[in-house]
Amino acid sequence: MTHLLTMFFNISVLFLVLIVTMSLVADARPATFLQDFRITWSDSHIRQLDGGRAIQLVLDQNSGCGFASKSQYLFGRVSMKIKLIPGDSAGTVTAFYMNSDTDQVRDELDFEFLGNRTGQPYSVQTNVYAHGKGDREQRVNLWFDPAADYHTYSILWNHHHVVFSVDEVPIRVYKNNEARGVPFPKFQPMGVYSTLWEADDWATRGGLEKIDWSKAPFYAYYKDFDIEGCPVPGPKTCASNPSNWWEGASYQQLDPVAARRYRWVRMNHMVYDYCTDKSRYPVTPPECVAGI
Ligand SMILES: *[C@@H]1O[C@H](CO)[C@@H](O)[C@H](O)[C@H]1NC(C)=O
Repeated sequence: MTHLLTMFFNISVLFLVLIVTMSLVADARPATFLQDFRITWSDSHIRQLDGGRAIQLVLDQNSGCGFASKSQYLFGRVSMKIKLIPGDSAGTVTAFYMNSDTDQVRDELDFEFLGNRTGQPYSVQTNVYAHGKGDREQRVNLWFDPAADYHTYSILWNHHHVVFSVDEVPIRVYKNNEARGVPFPKFQPMGVYSTLWEADDWATRGGLEKIDWSKAPFYAYYKDFDIEGCPVPGPKTCASNPSNWWEGASYQQLDPVAARRYRWVRMNHMVYDYCTDKSRYPVTPPECVAGI
């Protein structure tokens, strides 16, 4: 009898532990859009879906739209799932970026998704501004249709490097080359931003392909907003704390699998690299000489 009672008790405890753990895990994740973000441009062109866990961005002839994080962050990782405009998206740009929002010495880490004609590949342009100096564009044509489904786009930023990834595949690494005199963003916190707008004067085939407004409105979708980093204002010691997970040993450089994927992207999908643009940079920029 006592044996049975003990067993019953044990099972109840087990259930309790299970339920508590599940609720903790559930609490840690389901970020809604308005928890972390605010609309910065054209309320009427951003719609919340799925109880605020996803949003739809709209571009029509009246307006594009944009949103920004409520906080700024110094180091960390931000990731989102994005489903880009399907079909004829030529001339549209969907951007997802971090920006210090300072005029003089801007730091900025950019993903820009450049639309294309139906059936032609989307390009992802990345750029890095450090201490006010940008002009470091690279472009990769995506190896899948980014409008058919959601894909994860993330920026990891720590003291060692900045890594732009698409579905865990690194497409751009900007290393901390301060030892070589190359500026690295590390003094200013950055906010997380996104915009959808028309840029048919430059975006697609250098501006040759114009937006087909008969296809408007254009829609892009976002979900699974995830920012983990040191919020500013916040605890002063956070950014320099070496035990933040994003500063950990396995995030200080690409592991062999990630390095192999990164080489694969550069060999097979890179369509532009400022590092090899001799007409723009007769002298190769120092961060390019330092190796990938
Ligand atoms: C659009 O498609 C053309 C033709 O395939 C390609 O050359 C270009 O890189 C693509 N992307 C952009 C943004 O023009």
